[in-house]
Amino acid sequence: MLIARGVPERSLVLVEYSREFCKLLRARFPAAEIIQGDAYAIGASMPGWVGVDPLEAVVSSLPLFTRPDEMREDVVARSLERMKPAAPFIQFSYAFTQPVKPERIGARLEISPWVKRNLPPARVLVYRSA
Ligand SMILES: C[S@@+](CC[C@H](N)C(=O)[O-])C[C@H]1O[C@@H](n2cnc3c(N)ncnc32)[C@H](O)[C@@H]1O
Repeated sequence: MLIARGVPERSLVLVEYSREFCKLLRARFPAAEIIQGDAYAIGASMPGWVGVDPLEAVVSSLPLFTRPDEMREDVVARSLERMKPAAPFIQFSYAFTQPVKPERIGARLEISPWVKRNLPPARVLVYRSA
């Protein structure tokens, strides 16, 4: 979808935990940078160059509710630190509650209406630095 909307494939950095999924992603998106690692360890498992130039956006479908509040806050807050001012951290969510309370990390949050054509219905949460 991102590529179909005009984002150059070579500008994508894809972070995925599963080795098998990474193989598929490498085959399907040869020009993108595929990093097999833990997205929560944004400092430790990412190459140093990720975020040296501020990131334009982060698109996440991490299952945030499988982690404690502090880890969720940390992954969003540390991503925002590596992004251009007001750049979006976009998170898909099936939950009724917010996975990260924006005031806990000094961010702003916009929440889309429920996308009912998605199964299960989901919302899109957009965090930006305040
Ligand atoms: C809901 S799936 C979304 C898959 C894909 N992005 C999509 O939209 O179809 C969540 C993905 O997050 C990956 N994942 C879960 N925890 C992760 C972590 N700590 N670091 C990186 N990837 C993780 C899973 O392996 C899984 O592929």
